[in-house]
Amino acid sequence: MKHFLDINITDPADLRQMIDHARVMKDARAGRPKGTPDDEQPLAGHMVALIFEKPSTRTRVSFDVGVRQMGGQTMVLSGNDMQLGHGETIADTARVLSRYVDLIMIRTFEEATLQEMAEYATVPVINGLTNRSHPCQIMTDIMTFEEHRGPIRGKKVTWCGDGNNVFASFAHAAGQFGFDLTFSGPPPLDPEQVFIDEARARGAKVEIERNPQKAVEGADLVVTDTWVSMHDPQSARERRHNQLRGYQVNEALMAHAKPDSLFMHCLPAHRDDEATSAVMDGPHSVIFDEAENRLHAQKAIMRWCLGV
Ligand code: CP
Ligand code: NVA
Repeated sequence: MKHFLDINITDPADLRQMIDHARVMKDARAGRPKGTPDDEQPLAGHMVALIFEKPSTRTRVSFDVGVRQMGGQTMVLSGNDMQLGHGETIADTARVLSRYVDLIMIRTFEEATLQEMAEYATVPVINGLTNRSHPCQIMTDIMTFEEHRGPIRGKKVTWCGDGNNVFASFAHAAGQFGFDLTFSGPPPLDPEQVFIDEARARGAKVEIERNPQKAVEGADLVVTDTWVSMHDPQSARERRHNQLRGYQVNEALMAHAKPDSLFMHCLPAHRDDEATSAVMDGPHSVIFDEAENRLHAQKAIMRWCLGV
Protein backbone atom coordinates (compact mmCIF):
# COMPACT_ATOMS: atom_id res chain seq x y z
CA MET A 1 0.00 0.00 0.00
CA LYS A 2 1.55 3.32 -1.04
CA HIS A 3 0.29 5.87 1.48
CA PHE A 4 1.68 9.40 1.27
CA LEU A 5 1.86 10.29 4.95
CA ASP A 6 5.11 12.20 5.35
CA ILE A 7 8.18 13.18 3.33
CA ASN A 8 10.64 11.59 5.79
CA ILE A 9 9.09 8.14 5.42
CA THR A 10 8.78 8.19 1.61
CA ASP A 11 11.61 6.87 -0.54
CA PRO A 12 13.76 9.78 -1.83
CA ALA A 13 13.82 8.34 -5.36
CA ASP A 14 10.01 8.25 -5.32
CA LEU A 15 9.87 11.84 -4.04
CA ARG A 16 12.14 12.94 -6.89
CA GLN A 17 10.07 11.05 -9.43
CA MET A 18 6.86 12.71 -8.16
CA ILE A 19 8.31 16.22 -8.48
CA ASP A 20 9.65 15.55 -11.97
CA HIS A 21 6.36 13.97 -12.99
CA ALA A 22 4.44 16.97 -11.64
CA ARG A 23 6.48 19.29 -13.84
CA VAL A 24 5.88 17.16 -16.91
CA MET A 25 2.13 17.12 -16.23
CA LYS A 26 2.11 20.88 -15.65
CA ASP A 27 3.91 21.52 -18.94
CA ALA A 28 1.50 19.22 -20.78
CA ARG A 29 -1.42 21.38 -19.63
CA ALA A 30 0.12 24.78 -20.37
CA GLY A 31 -2.42 27.28 -21.63
CA ARG A 32 -5.43 24.99 -21.37
CA PRO A 33 -8.67 25.94 -19.62
CA LYS A 34 -8.66 24.46 -16.12
CA GLY A 35 -11.76 22.40 -16.68
CA THR A 36 -10.49 20.48 -19.68
CA PRO A 37 -9.35 16.90 -19.12
CA ASP A 38 -5.71 15.86 -19.35
CA ASP A 39 -4.72 13.89 -22.46
CA GLU A 40 -4.06 10.96 -20.19
CA GLN A 41 -6.95 9.91 -17.92
CA PRO A 42 -5.16 7.74 -15.35
CA LEU A 43 -7.87 8.19 -12.70
CA ALA A 44 -10.75 7.21 -14.97
CA GLY A 45 -13.10 5.02 -12.95
CA HIS A 46 -11.49 6.07 -9.65
CA MET A 47 -13.37 7.65 -6.74
CA VAL A 48 -11.44 9.84 -4.30
CA ALA A 49 -12.67 10.90 -0.84
CA LEU A 50 -11.39 14.26 0.41
CA ILE A 51 -12.02 14.55 4.17
CA PHE A 52 -11.65 17.87 5.96
CA GLU A 53 -11.73 18.25 9.72
CA LYS A 54 -10.26 21.77 9.35
CA PRO A 55 -10.94 24.59 6.87
CA SER A 56 -9.18 24.65 3.49
CA THR A 57 -9.21 26.55 0.21
CA ARG A 58 -6.12 25.37 -1.69
CA THR A 59 -6.02 21.74 -0.59
CA ARG A 60 -9.71 21.26 -1.17
CA VAL A 61 -9.90 22.88 -4.59
CA SER A 62 -6.56 21.65 -5.94
CA PHE A 63 -7.22 18.01 -5.04
CA ASP A 64 -10.74 18.20 -6.44
CA VAL A 65 -9.67 19.82 -9.72
CA GLY A 66 -6.65 17.50 -10.01
CA VAL A 67 -8.73 14.36 -9.71
CA ARG A 68 -11.23 15.63 -12.29
CA GLN A 69 -8.53 16.61 -14.76
CA MET A 70 -7.22 13.05 -14.53
CA GLY A 71 -10.65 11.59 -15.19
CA GLY A 72 -11.61 10.59 -11.65
CA GLN A 73 -14.45 11.59 -9.39
CA THR A 74 -14.34 13.17 -5.93
CA MET A 75 -16.40 13.36 -2.83
CA VAL A 76 -15.60 16.23 -0.47
CA LEU A 77 -16.54 15.31 3.09
CA SER A 78 -16.54 17.47 6.17
CA GLY A 79 -15.47 15.60 9.30
CA ASN A 80 -18.31 17.16 11.27
CA ASP A 81 -20.96 15.93 8.87
CA MET A 82 -19.60 12.38 9.03
CA GLN A 83 -20.23 9.92 11.87
CA LEU A 84 -16.49 10.36 12.45
CA GLY A 85 -17.32 13.65 14.14
CA HIS A 86 -19.93 11.93 16.32
CA GLY A 87 -18.05 9.04 17.85
CA GLU A 88 -17.47 6.48 15.08
CA THR A 89 -13.89 5.31 15.26
CA ILE A 90 -11.28 6.21 12.69
CA ALA A 91 -10.56 2.52 12.19
CA ASP A 92 -14.17 1.74 11.32
CA THR A 93 -14.43 4.80 9.10
CA ALA A 94 -11.28 3.75 7.26
CA ARG A 95 -12.58 0.23 6.65
CA VAL A 96 -15.97 1.47 5.48
CA LEU A 97 -14.61 4.15 3.15
CA SER A 98 -12.21 1.62 1.65
CA ARG A 99 -15.23 -0.34 0.40
CA TYR A 100 -16.45 2.70 -1.58
CA VAL A 101 -13.45 4.72 -2.72
CA ASP A 102 -10.02 4.12 -4.26
CA LEU A 103 -8.07 6.84 -2.43
CA ILE A 104 -8.53 8.88 0.77
CA MET A 105 -7.07 12.33 1.42
CA ILE A 106 -7.56 13.56 4.97
CA ARG A 107 -6.87 16.88 6.70
CA THR A 108 -7.11 16.41 10.42
CA PHE A 109 -5.83 17.48 13.83
CA GLU A 110 -3.88 14.70 15.53
CA GLU A 111 -1.23 12.80 13.64
CA ALA A 112 -2.58 9.66 15.33
CA THR A 113 -5.84 10.06 13.38
CA LEU A 114 -3.96 10.00 10.08
CA GLN A 115 -1.93 7.01 11.18
CA GLU A 116 -5.01 5.08 12.28
CA MET A 117 -6.71 5.88 8.99
CA ALA A 118 -3.67 4.56 7.11
CA GLU A 119 -3.42 1.48 9.30
CA TYR A 120 -7.01 0.39 8.72
CA ALA A 121 -7.68 1.66 5.19
CA THR A 122 -7.19 -0.85 2.41
CA VAL A 123 -6.72 1.99 -0.09
CA PRO A 124 -3.94 4.62 -0.14
CA VAL A 125 -4.20 7.54 2.30
CA ILE A 126 -2.73 11.01 1.70
CA ASN A 127 -1.88 13.49 4.48
CA GLY A 128 -3.59 16.79 3.63
CA LEU A 129 -2.18 18.44 6.81
CA THR A 130 -2.11 17.51 10.47
CA ASN A 131 -1.04 19.51 13.50
CA ARG A 132 2.45 18.07 12.92
CA SER A 133 3.12 18.13 9.18
CA HIS A 134 2.00 19.25 5.71
CA PRO A 135 3.89 17.13 3.18
CA CYS A 136 1.83 17.97 0.05
CA GLN A 137 2.69 21.63 0.61
CA ILE A 138 6.42 21.08 0.80
CA MET A 139 6.49 18.78 -2.23
CA THR A 140 4.84 21.71 -3.99
CA ASP A 141 7.35 24.18 -2.60
CA ILE A 142 10.27 22.11 -3.85
CA MET A 143 8.67 21.84 -7.27
CA THR A 144 8.16 25.62 -7.27
CA PHE A 145 11.72 26.37 -6.17
CA GLU A 146 13.20 24.13 -8.84
CA GLU A 147 10.96 25.60 -11.51
CA HIS A 148 12.48 29.02 -10.80
CA ARG A 149 16.00 28.21 -9.67
CA GLY A 150 16.95 24.65 -10.61
CA PRO A 151 17.89 21.81 -8.24
CA ILE A 152 17.29 22.54 -4.55
CA ARG A 153 20.12 20.24 -3.42
CA GLY A 154 22.77 22.26 -1.61
CA LYS A 155 20.68 25.46 -1.51
CA LYS A 156 19.91 27.40 1.67
CA VAL A 157 16.34 27.70 2.92
CA THR A 158 15.58 30.01 5.85
CA TRP A 159 12.36 29.72 7.80
CA CYS A 160 11.29 32.79 9.82
CA GLY A 161 8.56 32.44 12.42
CA ASP A 162 6.71 29.63 14.16
CA GLY A 163 8.30 26.17 14.24
CA ASN A 164 5.04 24.62 13.09
CA ASN A 165 3.69 21.78 10.92
CA VAL A 166 4.82 23.40 7.65
CA PHE A 167 8.35 23.88 9.03
CA ALA A 168 8.36 20.23 10.10
CA SER A 169 7.78 19.08 6.53
CA PHE A 170 10.58 21.40 5.37
CA ALA A 171 12.85 19.65 7.87
CA HIS A 172 11.72 16.26 6.53
CA ALA A 173 12.46 17.49 3.02
CA ALA A 174 15.89 18.90 3.94
CA GLY A 175 16.94 15.39 4.89
CA GLN A 176 15.46 13.78 1.79
CA PHE A 177 16.38 16.38 -0.85
CA GLY A 178 19.69 17.53 0.67
CA PHE A 179 19.26 21.26 1.23
CA ASP A 180 20.40 23.41 4.16
CA LEU A 181 17.72 24.69 6.51
CA THR A 182 17.95 27.53 9.01
CA PHE A 183 15.19 28.14 11.54
CA SER A 184 14.77 31.61 12.96
CA GLY A 185 12.14 32.14 15.62
CA PRO A 186 11.73 32.63 19.37
CA PRO A 187 12.74 29.69 21.62
CA PRO A 188 9.21 28.98 22.92
CA LEU A 189 8.09 28.33 19.33
CA ASP A 190 11.01 26.14 18.32
CA PRO A 191 10.20 23.07 16.24
CA GLU A 192 10.34 19.66 17.89
CA GLN A 193 13.96 18.56 18.16
CA VAL A 194 13.21 15.24 16.47
CA PHE A 195 12.62 17.00 13.13
CA ILE A 196 16.02 18.68 13.32
CA ASP A 197 17.85 15.58 14.54
CA GLU A 198 16.43 13.42 11.79
CA ALA A 199 17.36 15.87 9.02
CA ARG A 200 20.88 16.16 10.45
CA ALA A 201 21.18 12.39 10.65
CA ARG A 202 20.49 12.30 6.92
CA GLY A 203 23.31 14.76 6.33
CA ALA A 204 21.39 18.04 6.01
CA LYS A 205 22.86 21.14 7.61
CA VAL A 206 20.15 22.44 9.96
CA GLU A 207 20.77 25.50 12.10
CA ILE A 208 18.89 27.62 14.59
CA GLU A 209 19.74 31.33 14.36
CA ARG A 210 17.77 33.68 16.61
CA ASN A 211 18.77 36.79 14.68
CA PRO A 212 16.56 36.84 11.56
CA GLN A 213 18.90 39.11 9.61
CA LYS A 214 21.79 36.70 10.13
CA ALA A 215 19.48 33.76 9.44
CA VAL A 216 18.57 34.97 5.94
CA GLU A 217 22.16 35.80 4.94
CA GLY A 218 22.97 33.73 1.87
CA ALA A 219 19.44 32.32 1.70
CA ASP A 220 18.17 31.13 -1.68
CA LEU A 221 14.66 30.84 -0.26
CA VAL A 222 12.95 32.63 2.62
CA VAL A 223 9.77 31.07 3.95
CA THR A 224 7.22 31.98 6.57
CA ASP A 225 3.74 30.93 7.64
CA THR A 226 0.90 32.16 9.78
CA TRP A 227 1.73 32.95 13.40
CA VAL A 228 -1.39 31.15 14.65
CA SER A 229 -2.17 27.80 13.05
CA MET A 230 -5.61 26.23 12.85
CA HIS A 231 -4.89 23.94 15.79
CA ASP A 232 -3.52 26.73 18.02
CA PRO A 233 -5.95 28.13 20.58
CA GLN A 234 -7.14 31.64 19.76
CA SER A 235 -6.25 32.53 23.36
CA ALA A 236 -2.59 32.22 22.32
CA ARG A 237 -2.96 34.79 19.54
CA GLU A 238 -1.71 37.88 21.34
CA ARG A 239 1.19 36.07 23.00
CA ARG A 240 2.28 34.54 19.69
CA HIS A 241 2.09 37.88 17.90
CA ASN A 242 4.28 39.44 20.58
CA GLN A 243 6.79 36.58 20.35
CA LEU A 244 6.91 36.58 16.55
CA ARG A 245 6.74 40.26 15.61
CA GLY A 246 10.52 40.49 15.31
CA TYR A 247 10.50 37.67 12.74
CA GLN A 248 8.24 39.40 10.21
CA VAL A 249 9.46 39.00 6.64
CA ASN A 250 9.63 42.52 5.25
CA GLU A 251 11.68 44.26 2.58
CA ALA A 252 14.40 45.21 5.07
CA LEU A 253 14.83 41.54 6.01
CA MET A 254 14.74 40.31 2.39
CA ALA A 255 17.56 42.76 1.60
CA HIS A 256 19.85 40.53 3.72
CA ALA A 257 19.08 37.39 1.66
CA LYS A 258 20.66 36.63 -1.71
CA PRO A 259 19.61 39.20 -4.33
CA ASP A 260 17.85 36.49 -6.32
CA SER A 261 16.28 34.79 -3.29
CA LEU A 262 12.71 33.57 -3.52
CA PHE A 263 9.98 34.19 -0.97
CA MET A 264 7.34 31.55 -0.20
CA HIS A 265 4.26 31.33 2.02
CA CYS A 266 1.89 28.36 1.82
CA LEU A 267 -1.09 30.69 2.35
CA PRO A 268 -3.51 31.65 3.78
CA ALA A 269 -1.51 34.69 4.93
CA HIS A 270 -2.23 37.39 7.44
CA ARG A 271 -0.85 40.23 5.42
CA ASP A 272 1.43 42.59 7.30
CA ASP A 273 1.74 40.21 10.23
CA GLU A 274 4.14 37.39 9.28
CA ALA A 275 5.00 39.00 5.92
CA THR A 276 4.37 42.43 4.50
CA SER A 277 2.32 42.95 1.36
CA ALA A 278 5.39 44.59 -0.16
CA VAL A 279 7.20 41.22 0.07
CA MET A 280 4.19 39.06 -0.78
CA ASP A 281 3.53 41.08 -3.93
CA GLY A 282 7.19 41.95 -4.56
CA PRO A 283 9.86 40.65 -6.94
CA HIS A 284 11.04 37.73 -4.75
CA SER A 285 7.58 36.30 -4.17
CA VAL A 286 6.36 33.11 -5.85
CA ILE A 287 3.36 32.57 -3.57
CA PHE A 288 0.80 32.19 -6.34
CA ASP A 289 3.01 29.79 -8.30
CA GLU A 290 3.15 27.81 -5.07
CA ALA A 291 -0.63 27.83 -4.83
CA GLU A 292 -0.98 26.70 -8.45
CA ASN A 293 1.59 23.97 -8.08
CA ARG A 294 -0.45 22.29 -5.34
CA LEU A 295 -2.57 21.05 -8.23
CA HIS A 296 0.30 19.58 -10.24
CA ALA A 297 2.29 18.16 -7.32
CA GLN A 298 -0.74 16.44 -5.82
CA LYS A 299 -1.69 14.92 -9.17
CA ALA A 300 1.75 13.28 -9.21
CA ILE A 301 1.33 12.18 -5.58
CA MET A 302 -2.06 10.61 -6.32
CA ARG A 303 -0.69 8.78 -9.36
CA TRP A 304 2.22 7.46 -7.29
CA CYS A 305 -0.19 6.24 -4.59
CA LEU A 306 -2.43 4.50 -7.09
CA GLY A 307 0.38 3.27 -9.33
CA VAL A 308 -1.33 4.72 -12.41
N1 CP B 1 -1.71 25.96 2.04
C1 CP B 1 -2.84 25.27 2.31
O1 CP B 1 -2.83 24.08 2.65
O2 CP B 1 -3.98 26.01 2.14
P1 CP B 1 -5.45 25.61 2.56
O3 CP B 1 -5.52 25.62 4.07
O4 CP B 1 -6.32 26.67 1.94
O5 CP B 1 -5.76 24.25 2.03
N1 NVA C 1 0.37 26.22 9.73
C1 NVA C 1 -0.91 26.43 9.09
C2 NVA C 1 -0.87 25.97 7.68
C3 NVA C 1 -2.14 26.20 6.92
C4 NVA C 1 -2.10 25.69 5.51
C5 NVA C 1 -2.00 25.71 9.87
O1 NVA C 1 -1.78 24.56 10.26
O2 NVA C 1 -3.02 26.33 10.13
